[in-house]
Amino acid sequence: MKKDKTIRDLVHEMHSELRDVYPERELNSLIKIVLTAITHLKKRHHLHIYQDQKADAEHIRQIKDITKQLKLGKPIQQILGETKFYDLTIKTSPAALIPRQETEELVDWMISDLKGTRARILDIGTGTGCIAIALARHLKNAQVEALDISQEALKLARENARLNGSNIRFLQADIFKAPSPEMHPTSGTYQVLVSNPPYIRESEKIRMHPNVLEHEPGEALFVSDEEPLIFYRQILEFADHYLDQAGLIWFEINEAFGKKMISLLEDKGYHNIHLRKDINDKDRMIKAQKP
Ligand SMILES: C[S@@+](CC[C@H](N)C(=O)[O-])C[C@H]1O[C@@H](n2cnc3c(N)ncnc32)[C@H](O)[C@@H]1O
Repeated sequence: MKKDKTIRDLVHEMHSELRDVYPERELNSLIKIVLTAITHLKKRHHLHIYQDQKADAEHIRQIKDITKQLKLGKPIQQILGETKFYDLTIKTSPAALIPRQETEELVDWMISDLKGTRARILDIGTGTGCIAIALARHLKNAQVEALDISQEALKLARENARLNGSNIRFLQADIFKAPSPEMHPTSGTYQVLVSNPPYIRESEKIRMHPNVLEHEPGEALFVSDEEPLIFYRQILEFADHYLDQAGLIWFEINEAFGKKMISLLEDKGYHNIHLRKDINDKDRMIKAQKP
């Protein structure tokens, strides 16, 4: 009689199918993510308890399908249609950047500095909405708004805000057309701005994984080599008009431009400038205060 497959058997099959495609550590982490999702476990470390459970037909079908897509290099977050960000579940789509761990670190910094704030906060280039939604969830008294140039990304961000029960005002706008009346339909200014804008130089593409290049939107990632800080300059110009005096600004940045970002902010008269490294020891985020 044929022996029933267990979850452990599925893990072995997936591992042997994909071991030539992904490095061992990445593969083990992918397998955990997949199993957590298909067994609907709340916590990944509970997984070992389920390994000897019988795999049902649906588990087998899902694993086969996911393995096929992983073999083609599709990011796991897009295959599953969601990812974890901070303590939230965020839906993903090819229209928006998959939220990154570095960005969670940026959000964590903001939440700890802004605890209890009633500030009006604007997230520029919101993508999936991950930054804005995490801020709105954790800074209950803040008023959070977010903009993006992409209608598709905004549709996803609105859906994510709804699923996570956060009340955010979203706006479609091109930051390079700001300031303009449609950019800012309500009057008033912000006390906090945040942005993780496109910051990877075209020349850095060759070092990037095909996963990212083929499956994530280029408009969310790349800037020219000639003007790599173009978004930051533009956002600081926006800040001239719409960030309050002594208002705070946080940016996620390209690790190669920590010093240049400090100079840019100093030239604009900003003070209390703090550059921070991410978990991989790369200059990744910066905070400053408007004069
Ligand atoms: C690096 S992604 C960041 C997404 C999200 N905030 C995150 O941290 O995961 C940059 C975002 O900026 C948006 N963007 C690009 N050009 C823009 C522009 N000119 N005006 C407004 N948003 C823009 C892109 O659509 C994209 O969603």
